[in-house]
Amino acid sequence: MKALVLAGGAGTRLRPITHTSAKQLVPVANKPILFYGLESIAAAGVTEVGIIVGDTESEVRAAIGDGSRLGLEVTYIRQEAPLGLAHAVLIAADFLGDDDFLVFLGDNFVFGGITEIVRRFTEQRPDAQVLVTKVGNPSEFGVAELDREGKLIGLEEKPTEPRTDLALVGVYLFTPVAHTAMRAIEPSARGELEITDALRWLLDGGYDVRAGEISGYWKDTGNVADMLEVNRLLLETLEPAVLGEVDPDTEIVGRVRIEPGARVSASRVVGPAIIGAGTVVTGSYVGPSTSIAENCLLRDSEVEFSIVLADSVLDGVHRVEASLIGRNVTVHVTRRVPVAHRLVIGDHGWVQLPN
Ligand code: DAU
Repeated sequence: MKALVLAGGAGTRLRPITHTSAKQLVPVANKPILFYGLESIAAAGVTEVGIIVGDTESEVRAAIGDGSRLGLEVTYIRQEAPLGLAHAVLIAADFLGDDDFLVFLGDNFVFGGITEIVRRFTEQRPDAQVLVTKVGNPSEFGVAELDREGKLIGLEEKPTEPRTDLALVGVYLFTPVAHTAMRAIEPSARGELEITDALRWLLDGGYDVRAGEISGYWKDTGNVADMLEVNRLLLETLEPAVLGEVDPDTEIVGRVRIEPGARVSASRVVGPAIIGAGTVVTGSYVGPSTSIAENCLLRDSEVEFSIVLADSVLDGVHRVEASLIGRNVTVHVTRRVPVAHRLVIGDHGWVQLPN
């Protein structure tokens, strides 16, 4: 079996972060979301991985390299434009050859991995296998319809009036017959070749397409709220350790990881939280569900339930909550009058201010 991991696309719901970097490389608990997917593929015993890349190819390549660090053999496949998930499979046809394959969406997070799912597919070998899970907002996903026995009877991509609340999870398993389906379908109303349409083509053609309900937790991290939620969950399983410097005036409570080279002084850190290598925290409060990446500075600030990316500064800011702060960002308070907000914010950025 081979794996095809999708790390192209535009990432519009995570703008402005995705103006400058790949959404699949936004870190949760200080590790790019894509790495969790690749690790779960390696853990399932699949080593040959094709990664679909778009405009952010160089960044993805720099992060993953040849994959050997993760125990994988990675081949990069360039997609000129995000023309759909089925389009990605089409352009990977040479790489996939006659092997069974799994498709893993690079911004998806499957808590508990995919080892069991891959094992069951290899054993039973239906023509294709999808995974579904109940969600509150099915019209934002591919939606599956099952009969009373749990047999898949219908599939629709982002329907305005969903027939069920069962969303398609971004992990699909296929036998090579899938290539015929990917070639047969036409672009959808949004102009993409939809993997959901290819699956429906197989289903309508009498092929054995099965749906399994996912047992563990799953999230598509395409937006900020979901990203913060995955960050929160991952931090709950964090290995606590103080590898950096912590002065006696600092209080550390609960599951906290302070990476080597980080310095924390006169502060209170309440876990679960992670403070990245080289980051300086002084006179500050870091609250639960917070990941601070490498080489940041937090001075006289408070931050909770947030992700702060590398090289950013929070200075005199009380207080930051439920926020995703990009790389090299500075937020600081000035004592100068008049009291006014002074902002330099990237395109599509947004700020919520208290009144
Ligand atoms: O997350 C699960 C959902 O993923 C499913 O329920 C839907 O049926 C499926 O269509 C897909 O919907 P999204 O709208 O969330 O897909 P998105 O455009 O976010 O793309 C998913 C990943 O694939 C993302 O990491 C970007 C990448 N991608 C996307 C497209 C369209 C590519 O690499 N190439 C592409 O052409």
